[in-house]
Amino acid sequence: PTHRPGHGAVAPGLDWSDDDAVAALHGDMAADRPPTVAAPLLGADPCMPAVAHALFNPARPYEAIGEMAASSARDVAAACHTAAGEAAAWAATPVARRAQMLDNAAALLIARRGALLSLLVREAGKTLPAALAEVREAVDFCHYYARQARQLWPGAAPTPLGPVAAISPWNFPLAIFVGQIAAALAAGNPVLAKPAAETPLIARLATELLHEAGIPRGALQYLPGGGEVGARLSADPHIRGVLFTGSLPAAQAIHAALAAGDPVRPLIAETGGVNAMVVDGSALAEQVVRDALVSAFDSAGQRCSALRLLCLPEETADGIIALLGDAMDELQVGDPAELASDLGPLISHGAKANVEQALQALADQGMRITRAPLAPRDGHFLAPALVEIDAPERLPGEIFGPVLAVLRYRRTELPLLLARLDALGYGLTLGIASRCPSLIKTVTQMVRVGNVYVNRNQIGAVVGHQPFGGERLSGTGPKAGGPWLLWRLVRDADPCALI
Ligand code: SER
Repeated sequence: PTHRPGHGAVAPGLDWSDDDAVAALHGDMAADRPPTVAAPLLGADPCMPAVAHALFNPARPYEAIGEMAASSARDVAAACHTAAGEAAAWAATPVARRAQMLDNAAALLIARRGALLSLLVREAGKTLPAALAEVREAVDFCHYYARQARQLWPGAAPTPLGPVAAISPWNFPLAIFVGQIAAALAAGNPVLAKPAAETPLIARLATELLHEAGIPRGALQYLPGGGEVGARLSADPHIRGVLFTGSLPAAQAIHAALAAGDPVRPLIAETGGVNAMVVDGSALAEQVVRDALVSAFDSAGQRCSALRLLCLPEETADGIIALLGDAMDELQVGDPAELASDLGPLISHGAKANVEQALQALADQGMRITRAPLAPRDGHFLAPALVEIDAPERLPGEIFGPVLAVLRYRRTELPLLLARLDALGYGLTLGIASRCPSLIKTVTQMVRVGNVYVNRNQIGAVVGHQPFGGERLSGTGPKAGGPWLLWRLVRDADPCALI
């Protein structure tokens, strides 16, 4: 269906075997020109244009796709000042109107999906199916938070926090960018949105669409740039909270800045994980291989939810590893615009170098590494790798790329294995592959992770159905696309207070 009553338009999916539909999608992408300049969008008069950096296609690093004019210290200060001035008006905007604007934005995202897809492929290196899924997720976030705000606050709305900084990553440059903004706006907060330096064009287009949907320019300002922009935002005294998705060290730095201010401001963070799949002897080998392959290598492993460590019982490990190796040999690494490509490039030269360095360190420790067939020469492509390790502690934290570690364990040592995984400190996703209900129940109860997936892949949480977020080193919660986030973005955070 393209419309569900009361739920707004659903972004259409695509039957990828339908050549006409795929050709029409390519036609949309070619016809709808995206922006090529990512300059700040401020509520007040623009400051002097900043120095521009060229942006390149990660699949073809010699192809410039546009440029970014990073926000200056003056831009950040002016934007925070404007947001503080706008806070009362946006808080007083009825919830129904805020929600309507978000529904409008969803419709505009669908209408402009050609330009969004084109940028998701050329700026973020996403394969076409991943790009389309991301447009749909962004649409879902708009409708979800709009609907939730209407349901939670049909009468008087609670007092919002005030200006909120939304600092988002390059791996979901549309969905997470829009999701953070939609949540903060629905709760009545003006937003200062800082996209990742790698993907500012997608974010620029999304911001333009949100403005077109009715969000006042002072209530949503766009501040492209690198970590220095995020640091300035976090330190600005007008900021009343930060929504962050990205690396753990960046989250910790932002947390420190927020804690140093007066008042101490909240951080809502989602970081990374060393996500395991625990397989037991009853699991179907073919299903384990299929689910592990998708979980580890979709998006070239550049998902925080991605499977990093496949834990196999000794009695079935050899068979599963052999099947996995064969399946990996079939993976196509290449131009993300081509439907035949299963994996696109890594986001940058630096990202690829980090993964290669981590692989080299594991090889130096004597760990056996099997690589799938070689990736294309140009572009930041990397062949998927399987690393057989002998202890979870060998992993140097999260390796953000197409690397899957495999660990054998003795059936009697499952509790010890779970304890060692827990001791790594992360708590984002966990997969369980088993046909034994009591084991599934026991493992689910023992682990401390945000999202447990049983007998399926462990990526692609669905907004509203699978709230997504981690515990401990993986994030603060409340989860994105879940029922508690809006409560964290208002001051009278006790739901009972409004009854
Ligand atoms: N939400 C994404 C997923 O579930 C990760 O950010 O894969």
